[in-house]
Amino acid sequence: MKFDNTLSFARKMDQADPLKEFRKAFHLPVINGKRSIYFTGNSLGLQPKSTKKFIDEELQDWATLGVEGHVHARRPWLYYHKFTKKILAKLVGAKPIEVVAMNQLTMNLHLMMVSFYRPTKQRYKIITESGAFSSDQYAFESQLKFHGLNPEDALIELKPRAGESTLRTADIVAAIREHAQELALVIFGGVQYYTGQFFDIKKITEAGHQAGACVGFDLAHAVGNVPLNLHRHQVDFAVWCSYKYLNAGPGAIAGAFVHEKHAKRFDVPRFAGWWGHDEQERFQMKKGFLPIVGVDGWQLSNFPIISGAVLLASLEIFQHAGIKNLRKKSLLLTGYLEFLLKELDPNEYYFTILTPANPTERGCQLSIAMKRNGKKVFQKITKTGVVADWREPQVIRVAPVPLYNTFSDVYQFVEQFKKSLVV
Ligand SMILES: Cc1ncc(COP(=O)(O)O)c(C=O)c1O
Repeated sequence: MKFDNTLSFARKMDQADPLKEFRKAFHLPVINGKRSIYFTGNSLGLQPKSTKKFIDEELQDWATLGVEGHVHARRPWLYYHKFTKKILAKLVGAKPIEVVAMNQLTMNLHLMMVSFYRPTKQRYKIITESGAFSSDQYAFESQLKFHGLNPEDALIELKPRAGESTLRTADIVAAIREHAQELALVIFGGVQYYTGQFFDIKKITEAGHQAGACVGFDLAHAVGNVPLNLHRHQVDFAVWCSYKYLNAGPGAIAGAFVHEKHAKRFDVPRFAGWWGHDEQERFQMKKGFLPIVGVDGWQLSNFPIISGAVLLASLEIFQHAGIKNLRKKSLLLTGYLEFLLKELDPNEYYFTILTPANPTERGCQLSIAMKRNGKKVFQKITKTGVVADWREPQVIRVAPVPLYNTFSDVYQFVEQFKKSLVV
């Protein structure tokens, strides 16, 4: 596609966009009386207009049915997690038995590590990217300490080569091979939160398995953003949150994936709760935990219906839009943003883009590393109604989301950014 640096080109792209109607399905934030250019769906996705209806239906059922809603609500609460399965499975490339909406991301990460990080005397190390999201770092460190291990020794954090901002897949694979004898777990982000790098899940998983380790991913920035094939790629487990690209609201219910090959592995240790217990026997309140087959057997507590209703509202939109169509638009939208940014600063005097230039190695986010006056530039664009985010020490992250952002948004953002560069 040949892009053009004009508003009329951006408008033409918007008119030709087969997904353009979906923008109307969302509330777009208005700041100081002006509709914002919202590029922060990588932090908190926007509210679908249908969310209220989904919540209201649950409130109505609760008001009229009370406890009977567990069985007689229009979406019976006892089985609520099942209503999210089909679309979640599509989004992560899985079978319904492999995905479940439950808890929150960090909690799910701990639950998965309890089962899939099983260190032995010889094989006890975890390998991951350096600069992983803080909560993941805390989870890794605390899991290591829980097993009596020293993170200084047992946690391998891979850094990009000198002068480079992202990791090369070949270097990740080589590091996994180098540590093959001592690795218990390979765990990476799907899309790295700071750089926007979309890791090669297939190659990392293959390398991890060849080394004899389990392989997991934190898909917080990947789910609903990039196409995923967790089942086909044999990933052991994955976790994600739903408040970013899945638009399920602040603090939304999260998700987890466990590959079908582990569905009946009842020997795998796990922290159990009654909602993971065999459904037929759950209310017999008997001693002895009998896990449900599949990832549902990792559930702890009864399902949070209001949070689930919000997730369902958004998943319905994904079902209509289709992740393949979204990815197609996303490649163009982010490609256009990259094109305009490069035209603005061809010699990288003001900034450089950390995110890989290869579109297959990124989602919709571009991370702009500022070389001068970064924070001031960020504050200036914020005053013009742009909602982006700042990540210390020097990055402005911008994420044009194909469900609700437009090519005109991208054009206008770069115009505002241009005006803000000289402070
Ligand atoms: C990559 C990543 N991992 C983990 C988390 C923490 O998620 P939670 O607060 O839902 O546990 C976040 C939050 O933004 C994240 O971006």
